[in-house]
Amino acid sequence: MSLHKKTSELKKRMQDALSGGGAKAIEKQKATGKMTARERIITLLDPKSFYEYDLFVEHAGKDFDMSDKYLPGDGVITGTGTINGYPVCIFAQDFTVAGGSLGWMHAKKITKIMDHAMKLKVPLIGINDSGGARIQEGVNSLAGYGEIFYRNTQASGIIPQISVILGPCAGGAVYSPALTDFVFVVDKISKMFITGPEVIKTVLGEEISMEDLGGARIQAEITGNAHFFSNSEQECFDQIKRLFSFIPWNNIKKADPFPKKPPRSRNYKIENIFPTNPRQPYDVRDIIRAIVDDSDFFEVQEMFAQNIVIGFARMAGHTVGFVANQPMVLAGVLDVDSSDKAARFIRFCNAFNIPLVTLVDLPGYLPGIDQEHAGVIRHGAKVLYSYSEATVPKITVILRKAYGGGYIAMCSSHLRADFVFAWPTAEIAVMGPEGAANIIFRNEIKNAEKPEEVRKQKIKEYKEKFANPYVAAAYGYIDAVIEPSETRNLLIHSLEISSDKSEIRLNKKHGIPPF
Ligand code: HXC
Repeated sequence: MSLHKKTSELKKRMQDALSGGGAKAIEKQKATGKMTARERIITLLDPKSFYEYDLFVEHAGKDFDMSDKYLPGDGVITGTGTINGYPVCIFAQDFTVAGGSLGWMHAKKITKIMDHAMKLKVPLIGINDSGGARIQEGVNSLAGYGEIFYRNTQASGIIPQISVILGPCAGGAVYSPALTDFVFVVDKISKMFITGPEVIKTVLGEEISMEDLGGARIQAEITGNAHFFSNSEQECFDQIKRLFSFIPWNNIKKADPFPKKPPRSRNYKIENIFPTNPRQPYDVRDIIRAIVDDSDFFEVQEMFAQNIVIGFARMAGHTVGFVANQPMVLAGVLDVDSSDKAARFIRFCNAFNIPLVTLVDLPGYLPGIDQEHAGVIRHGAKVLYSYSEATVPKITVILRKAYGGGYIAMCSSHLRADFVFAWPTAEIAVMGPEGAANIIFRNEIKNAEKPEEVRKQKIKEYKEKFANPYVAAAYGYIDAVIEPSETRNLLIHSLEISSDKSEIRLNKKHGIPPF
């Protein structure tokens, strides 16, 4: 056969394979506002950077008439390309082909590209749009998922793993994302659940829509399974590109530096943001914007556990991970969800050489029956654990309240913060003045002629004694009490002098965090 004929045959085979599930299935996909799997990859990656592999892989199903069926590419597209010029490995499940369900060869394509990502030490992006394990392929589908989960775990902390949920993802299709670092969802398009509404109705008799069970909003606001929420696939891809600008390719590298830019001080001035009344809340994100380059703060899990704020920014051009109590929501307390949110982010930053800046203003861990029964002890301990094990540069600034367990947990010097600074407004104490006075002066207040006056006097005394940064500074628990306007310069200085920090921990197989 001539080269021309061979090339024509290749083109014909490619055309068949590229047709996905066919015109009708593609039309159905588009009618729901979704791009096709290939369009998604091409839109996300840099123009003309995508190279596809394993296009001609065929499925291995034999039962239920599967051997007669042709499933182009076995319902998943895999390859390599670049984002912002940096290499990535990628796969996208094609819902138009057997609902993107995962059979053995489909799984093999995914695990092959995962193995490449690990060998090449480049990030892995998975675009998930799948009905889960391919029912007709039985245990081989389950085996396929097991192979993926194993690799997700092995890759964890070595390369960044990103999951994009762009369809109704059920069963195994949601556990792989749960093992990855960042999960992106799109309103009305993404759905995640272990078992769908049909099964729930059959087993429990409960009725619920897919959206209410596991839609994008539920995942971003309530479960915390998703880290980024958007209104369209395009917006979601823009978010991914932005995330990639802040993180390194792998755990050996550091994130690429950008040119240093001052904050946009016209919009964000600490003295205009930080209230003089210590009881008044404020948006800690504005404090972050007031001190970071270009006032550019990329928030993670913005809609979940809003009493803590996490995200990336740059200081003097270098990526920094911020963890900050949010006084606007529940006074910034640590509770079950905010502890989980912070702990995971701290571990991501530590794994990928991103220094941590912690801004503290909290009355402590949230008391209450609900929280105790939901395991605030176990979840809260995750914050202690992740800060203590982190060896990246850790700098803490106490803005206002740092009470009780909250003081210790929010990267205090005792958990090995490299530098702890406090604003003069900081109050470092076992608990708030009101609560403390009621306990330690209970008898004096009770037996006083004018109990209310004595109570006020005792609160004042307590405040003067403890509700300030100077007692902690006198013990050396704080390195400097600083004017708020000095914060940016001091943070930049501390980060610069810590940039080659290396800290050795005791050799062990691994620790046992309070998962
Ligand atoms: C085989 C599947 C499939 C699956 C969907 N399809 N899911 N084929 N195995 N798991 C096929 C459908 O038969 C259909 O084929 C096509 O994909 C499109 O599906 P529709 O149902 O028409 O689409 P839609 O109405 O949008 O509903 C999507 C869906 C639904 C919500 C995902 O298909 C569904 O509930 N699927 C089953 C989900 C599920 O329970 N998965 C769990 C598997 S167990 P045709 O030929 O008609 O176009 C699992 C265990 C792993 O994953 C555990 C690991 C820990």
